[in-house]
Amino acid sequence: MSDAPRIPLAGVIGSPVAHSRSPFLHGHWLCRYGIRGHYVPMDIAPDRLADALRMLPELGFVGVNITVPYKETVMDIADLTSDRAALIGAANTLIFRKDGKIHADNTDGYGFIENLRQSAEGWDPTSGPAVVLGAGGAARAVVASLLDAGVPEIRISNRTRIRADTLREDFGNRLKVVEWVQAGNAIEGASTVVNTTSLGMTGKPELRVPLDALDKSMVVTDIVYAPLETRLLREARDQGCTVVDGLGMLLHQAVPGFERWFGLRPEVDDDLRQAVLG
Ligand code: ATR
Repeated sequence: MSDAPRIPLAGVIGSPVAHSRSPFLHGHWLCRYGIRGHYVPMDIAPDRLADALRMLPELGFVGVNITVPYKETVMDIADLTSDRAALIGAANTLIFRKDGKIHADNTDGYGFIENLRQSAEGWDPTSGPAVVLGAGGAARAVVASLLDAGVPEIRISNRTRIRADTLREDFGNRLKVVEWVQAGNAIEGASTVVNTTSLGMTGKPELRVPLDALDKSMVVTDIVYAPLETRLLREARDQGCTVVDGLGMLLHQAVPGFERWFGLRPEVDDDLRQAVLG
């Protein structure tokens, strides 16, 4: 094999993966910073996943992002996991280390918090309770990061109650479970309101939780980014709340992976938003 330095490769693995915006995002950064590298989408069948992950470093891959449906599966394949990935039980970023080990990390919560810190000026997570709607995989990352940021209480509400109960068992008694039919009441007196369900996403029904308790003192955010303005965000804007859309979370969660793989901490700005929106 040639001794010439290899062009570093990274990518995103999922199935399907064609919808992923990550190639636009990383492609924009590679181009902007003049880095000789490539980022490619890879649709890999479940029975090929483990072999593929072992083979990619030999092909010059320095790491990959992981998306649906493999975020949990890769935790069993990785040799090492970060504390936050272990806590969440899922990984979205793998680093192929020089010693051959696969390191799994989860940067979704980091992306969520960074987005709020940068987009909602003066947001103080410690100032009051947060309401988290939904208790799926995304909710786990959001809950972990909110607790880490010092939120005093999380009121969690999910259509399927047992999933919210499981989160409370896993994350402790700063979580209070609220029945889904009572979710609107949970908003009363909250500082931060987050939708982590897929409701409101293009092709899905709207979130129908009553929103009368929204107040202009609140920071309201949605992890849905297509469309950029969901019913939750529209009503929150009308109430004078500080509103943060979900696209920023997608952009910020990509920063630690890019930095580890390509050796440069990239900027999240309007140019990047436009590149990803296409
Ligand atoms: P992700 O990893 O993106 O969070 P997920 O684990 O499938 O995906 O979770 C999707 C979330 O959206 C869940 O909270 C789900 O509620 P259930 O646990 O009751 O399924 C929520 N969700 C999806 N469709 C919904 C609907 N029609 N009404 C209420 N909640 C819904």
